[in-house]
Amino acid sequence: MSNVIIVGAQWGDEGKGKIVDLLAEKADMVVRFQGGNNAGHTLVVGGKKIVLHLIPSGILHKNVACIIGNGVVIDLDVLQQEFENLTSHGYSIDPERLRISENAHLIMPYHKVLDQLSEKQKGDQKIGTTCRGIGPAYIDKVARDGLRAGDLIDFKSFETRLREVMNFKNALIEKIYGGKTLEVDPILKSMQQHREWLLPYLCNTSVAIHKAQLQKKHILFEGAQGTSLDVDHGTYPYVTSSNTVSGAACTGAGIGPKDIDRVIGVIKAYTTRVGSGPFPTELHDDIGDTICKNGNEFGSTTGRQRRCGWLDAVFLRHAVRVNGITDIAMTKLDVLSGLKEIKICTAYERNGEKSDTFISDINMLGASKPIYETFAGWPAFSAQPKSIEDCPTQVQHFLKRVEELAEAPVTMLSTGPDRLENLVSTSYF
Ligand code: IMP
Repeated sequence: MSNVIIVGAQWGDEGKGKIVDLLAEKADMVVRFQGGNNAGHTLVVGGKKIVLHLIPSGILHKNVACIIGNGVVIDLDVLQQEFENLTSHGYSIDPERLRISENAHLIMPYHKVLDQLSEKQKGDQKIGTTCRGIGPAYIDKVARDGLRAGDLIDFKSFETRLREVMNFKNALIEKIYGGKTLEVDPILKSMQQHREWLLPYLCNTSVAIHKAQLQKKHILFEGAQGTSLDVDHGTYPYVTSSNTVSGAACTGAGIGPKDIDRVIGVIKAYTTRVGSGPFPTELHDDIGDTICKNGNEFGSTTGRQRRCGWLDAVFLRHAVRVNGITDIAMTKLDVLSGLKEIKICTAYERNGEKSDTFISDINMLGASKPIYETFAGWPAFSAQPKSIEDCPTQVQHFLKRVEELAEAPVTMLSTGPDRLENLVSTSYF
């Protein structure tokens, strides 16, 4: 039995989907524990493209049970579309295979409106959110104004709460933001329709996970976004509204810290970011464009072009510490193939002072210049290497230095988009 957490150790989009998909083959259960449909990954199975935002990709493996934990915020329209999409591709979904926490908060239509209005009002200072209502839904959770999936069971009291909450939300929309108010009745009607299909899936998911642990099952906890987007440990305020670090698996799934065996931090061999905020190693030149093009760096949720830059080992060390990363999985190594030189940022410099510790103040971080170590590039792989020793020596030097700087071993290397293009030097389960 093993409990393994997978987190993003950069700004999200590190390729966690592929790693989860690979490990899910050996897992018995896959659990989402934070975020919502701001996340997304595209999986190509048997030539068919499937995009998932909420349901763990483990659902594509017949014998894997999937959980959407209490820490996730759920847009029921999106979840219903995912059900329909999966069913149309021949995947069966039933309450035995997918369980949803009754304590998970719902993203309501007014959350999406408020997300858009708040971004518009911020103008140049906008966060660059996905406008999916994530922030406003978490605001309501913490303010104790949220509606949870389990509230739908007693629909009468759901209606009472919704009417109360919407009085306030409509005042906010109209009086503060000058927006158009929303009608309660159509929202109630749509929630009633969702209630019909949703209720059989709801349960106390912490108990379901605990039962699986007692049966010595292999459980994978799938994080969304990345450490730089963590509301406490990232580049605040240019972050998402949840904790994205491994500790969130405990609160967002209802397990204790002693249950965790391993934490895999996923990184790309370079760095990307979507949305606003400081990014010390960002490239504004042809190399950045080449990485973007070769890596197909466009978001699967919003289609936005991602900002690209070199690997930042200062941030990586921070991510290893705050997540307790035991293993690094590096993706997209192949994207750098063919470049003459490859760089890694080993420290920041600001006002003549050098720092090898991550700076969380965004103004200080924005004013910091990266100090780089330069490595010789490597040619494109002519065939899939069978081991690290089989890789070009330049790759081996690069990886060795990443491990030294990160203070954690690279135990998985993805060398191409295909499921088979990986080197794995350990057994996680
Ligand atoms: P929100 O999560 O929609 O509120 O967006 C907040 C910030 O997190 C924005 O910069 C988004 O671009 C970023 N973000 C949210 N989800 C993801 C993700 O899955 N990958 C990368 N960036 C994300």
